[in-house]
Amino acid sequence: MEKEYILACVAWPYASAEIHQGNVTGSYLPADIYARFHRLKGNHVLMVSGSDSHGTPVTVKAEEEGKTPREVFEHYHANFLELFQKLGLSYDLFTHTDTENHHTVSQDIFRALMANEYLYRKVTKQMYSPSSGKFLPDRYVEGTCPNCGYKRARGDQCDSCNTLFESASELLEPHSKMDSSALELRDTEHFFLDLPAIAELGLADWIQENKEHWRPQVLNFASNLILKEGLIGRAVTRDMEWGIPVPAEGFDTKVLYVWFEAVIGYLSASIEWAKNQGDPEAWKAWWYGDNARTVYFIGKDNIPFHSVIWPAQLMGMQRLYETDESKHLNLPYDVPANEFMNMEGLKISGSMKWGVWMLDALTRFDPDPLRYYLTAIMPETRDSDWSWGGFVERNNKELVANWGNLVNRVLNMTKKYFGGIVPDPGALTDLDSELLRAIEAGFDSVAERYDACKFRAATQEILRLSSLVNQYLEQTSPWTTAKTDMVAVGRSLYTAIQAINSLKTMWAPILPFTSQQLHTMLAEEGQLFGEQAVETYQEETRSHLGLTYRGDGAVGSWESTKIPVGRQLPKPKPLFKRLDAEIAVEELARLGPRPV
Ligand code: MF3
Ligand code: ZN
Repeated sequence: MEKEYILACVAWPYASAEIHQGNVTGSYLPADIYARFHRLKGNHVLMVSGSDSHGTPVTVKAEEEGKTPREVFEHYHANFLELFQKLGLSYDLFTHTDTENHHTVSQDIFRALMANEYLYRKVTKQMYSPSSGKFLPDRYVEGTCPNCGYKRARGDQCDSCNTLFESASELLEPHSKMDSSALELRDTEHFFLDLPAIAELGLADWIQENKEHWRPQVLNFASNLILKEGLIGRAVTRDMEWGIPVPAEGFDTKVLYVWFEAVIGYLSASIEWAKNQGDPEAWKAWWYGDNARTVYFIGKDNIPFHSVIWPAQLMGMQRLYETDESKHLNLPYDVPANEFMNMEGLKISGSMKWGVWMLDALTRFDPDPLRYYLTAIMPETRDSDWSWGGFVERNNKELVANWGNLVNRVLNMTKKYFGGIVPDPGALTDLDSELLRAIEAGFDSVAERYDACKFRAATQEILRLSSLVNQYLEQTSPWTTAKTDMVAVGRSLYTAIQAINSLKTMWAPILPFTSQQLHTMLAEEGQLFGEQAVETYQEETRSHLGLTYRGDGAVGSWESTKIPVGRQLPKPKPLFKRLDAEIAVEELARLGPRPV
């Protein structure tokens, strides 16, 4: 079968806060599972993302901490690189939005949209601070809520009654959040993306083409916005200092809006990756090829930008990299947005310190059990809830009892009865062949679920298969037959070894570390997946850190392979640890009081 080009686009975290379990389960982990699955299938996978270094989240944090935005973003960027490596998130490139490459690509796209007449200028009114001599972003503005009278409502939203404001000018007595000085409305000119004009290139038809495989919440949102609410022009520049300069005259005090350029990162990171490979055109196979699928892994708050606005940007920038007018860059094949994850029944919140900070959690837990629980309760169709009790229970009852103990039993019995040498099965019985056939069928049934981004269902399916092997061992009971019939013992252990070897591959996208461990315990050579490393990339005027994955030499493949008779296996070690119930109590105590 012809190999596909799979582009896994992963949400770019704002480099202004530590990453919690909700971020990981929302987009980074599903992307990694998907990418690893397709690598095992032998497809050409490119998984890209980076730190979102611009925007008010970063500047607000910088002001709070008395640092520059660059210091803030560099700190969190380094923090993300460490986390992703430890958690095994196998980005082919994790870069950031402050590279020269990203600046250039973003400005090129801005110019292309302008040349194609999909940008227009418009004067709007914005809050201006005479005391600091600049326009203020909405969330720097504070005032009285016109709806409920709350005195400290923010310019974009009232935290008391949740009213969203279209403009901070709706607040009564607006003043600066920083120095409380009074603000005034002043004229300012911005560029707007002409979404209604771009939509005529066929945005609505494209949404309809995706009907079959998009998640209903994503499809509904996108078609409502385009067909019912109707599209309006959107400002793509901001009055700010930190960001990418607007390539237009008279705009030196303004930057590209963070949402305009961050989504461009998927493309610019693909281009940067190709340059780093020494093959600058290599990205085009994913972005122009017919045999390519681009899939965007994001949380539900990002749906508008990925299902409508970014596709519109892609349609509107035609002729930038290709002179053929009819060609545009590949539009998203799928946007499998996840809902939110809560914790212990409450919303995860950085400011309330209510969440599991992943880098911290990894000092106490192995990556695979965390990845397992986050997959088992991934909020694919509705919001889900992380609980420490749930983590401990599912670790013990599913990961350890169903899978880890199976591996232990099989390998320990092989050691005990055959000195760790894979036994000769002689002629297989129907029972043995039936089990092997059932497991073999998993290469299709599990693949179907991975490919459809139904990762919870994939987990359930592999657990079901693993239970079949457990049942098979109960039925053949080698620990009993060992007293009378060593040929039968050899047959059932040989069969079980082949079964766990296949299950190892099926688990590998979710449990890459322990699948590798089992691979080695089965005396198989090499690495299932490639290697990850933090690298320094030299650009024209500065260097930057990024995370890379190198897949060459990886031996994993999505098919059953045989562990040969007579092979000496090394001494087995347990894949997982049982967790004491006490751990849930400790972790809850570590969290402190529930926020109110
Ligand atoms: N940094 C933004 C967020 O965390 C945007 C993420 S996706 C992007 O919500 F592609 F737009 F960058
Ligand atoms: Zn209010």
